[in-house]
Amino acid sequence: MKISVFGCGYLGAVHAACMASLGHEVVGIDIVPEQVRALSRGEAPFFEPDLPGLLAEGVAGGRLRFSVDPGDASPATVHFVCVNTPQKKGEYGADLSHLNAVIESILAVVKPGDVIVGKSTVPVGTAERLLARITAVEPEAELLWNPEFLREGHAVQDTLSPDRFVYGYVDGPQGRDAAAKLDEVYAVALSDGVPKLETDLATAQLVKVAANSFLATKISFVNAMAELCEATGADVTQLADAIGYDDRIGRKFLNAGLGFGGGCLPKDIRAFMARAGELGVDQALTFLREVDSINMRRRVRMVDLAREVCGGSIVGRRLAVLGSAFKPDSDDIRDSPALSVAAQMQLQGARVLVTDPRAIDNARKKWPDLEFASTVEEAVAESEAVLLLTEWPEYVELDPADLKRLVAVPRMIDGRNCLEPARWRAAGWTYRALGRP
Ligand code: UGA
Repeated sequence: MKISVFGCGYLGAVHAACMASLGHEVVGIDIVPEQVRALSRGEAPFFEPDLPGLLAEGVAGGRLRFSVDPGDASPATVHFVCVNTPQKKGEYGADLSHLNAVIESILAVVKPGDVIVGKSTVPVGTAERLLARITAVEPEAELLWNPEFLREGHAVQDTLSPDRFVYGYVDGPQGRDAAAKLDEVYAVALSDGVPKLETDLATAQLVKVAANSFLATKISFVNAMAELCEATGADVTQLADAIGYDDRIGRKFLNAGLGFGGGCLPKDIRAFMARAGELGVDQALTFLREVDSINMRRRVRMVDLAREVCGGSIVGRRLAVLGSAFKPDSDDIRDSPALSVAAQMQLQGARVLVTDPRAIDNARKKWPDLEFASTVEEAVAESEAVLLLTEWPEYVELDPADLKRLVAVPRMIDGRNCLEPARWRAAGWTYRALGRP
């Protein structure tokens, strides 16, 4: 099929490359010329495992190209909308300016029978508004809402074989024809048995924010338990293992620690609360305010723990921070808990040195006042405490005896509960973590 993908960030670049790998003819449209140039050379502008290979293959095979000109989308019959919907500055609501602009660009090329497929995360009600605008310009074009559930770091696999497809549309002959076209796009995954749910537009938009809110709630739940564990001397990792054996609860997303960050969970729960307020049902989501507060408290607690471990003050202390990405296997630093802790400690007078295997360049640009080191060895040299804040495999596998030779004082603060306390203590380290004795 001939496909266009508007917005070539994390979501769109991966979507475009994956669709091309399925044999479709794809053009990705973005307004950032450097991004388009990199993608056109088959280079991924961000770190995402498996993406570079797919991009290079698609571009070399001629099935995948990128452009800044929306006019290049005119041969496509299915147009995917993959722009980001970030949090508005100083408000909880989502900024829909990119989304609105992209719809106008698509309307300049749309033809009768074309299908516009929304994948961006939006406040419920947005799709209905966009559909009215689309049909006012081209009554024979259709809008489907098809939320994306990919995780950074697993984006290719999540796009090619997702847990489920959700198609939201207005039921009727035109909507059903459009859904059939989307079936053709996803034919391979559908024939592999990926479940598909067909819903109305409102449900499809809500599914996405409900899923992210549930995940955020799970993380904050276990982090609230970590606060109880800290007050009682209990161990939150054992607690999570024990409750996780119950199938109804499940162990996934119960890793206690520094909490969630990134470009999705934090802003999605806030935009969801803002939308609920507009709809007059804010009480339904007041619990998300608590989910957000628990999450933010973990960052404060982490700084307090560093102070405690350093004997009551971090002023003038050399502290090493391992990790600046919001999670491993990503170079994304949006709302990164690690950088937020590093910056707080520096503001409070510590001499902080941050390292990360992938996200240093992004971190340096966004946080020019922080100090960065390109290797673990450099970061920990002469440090009085090491804080592990992003659980990259290379950090989890660090050897406590080797590391001890480099630091001034062997104090490890494990912000992700990813190290074995006994191993580190046996090697002579003071080991502390959130929610563990
Ligand atoms: C999240 C969702 O997981 C995806 O399903 C969704 O499609 C995506 O947002 C989106 O809306 O686009 P992502 O932001 O890539 O994906 O990151 P997650 O893997 O969900 O991790 C989010 C944060 O939670 C990270 O900072 C991670 O360190 C933290 N986390 C995760 C925990 O603190 N504990 C856990 O047990 C799991």
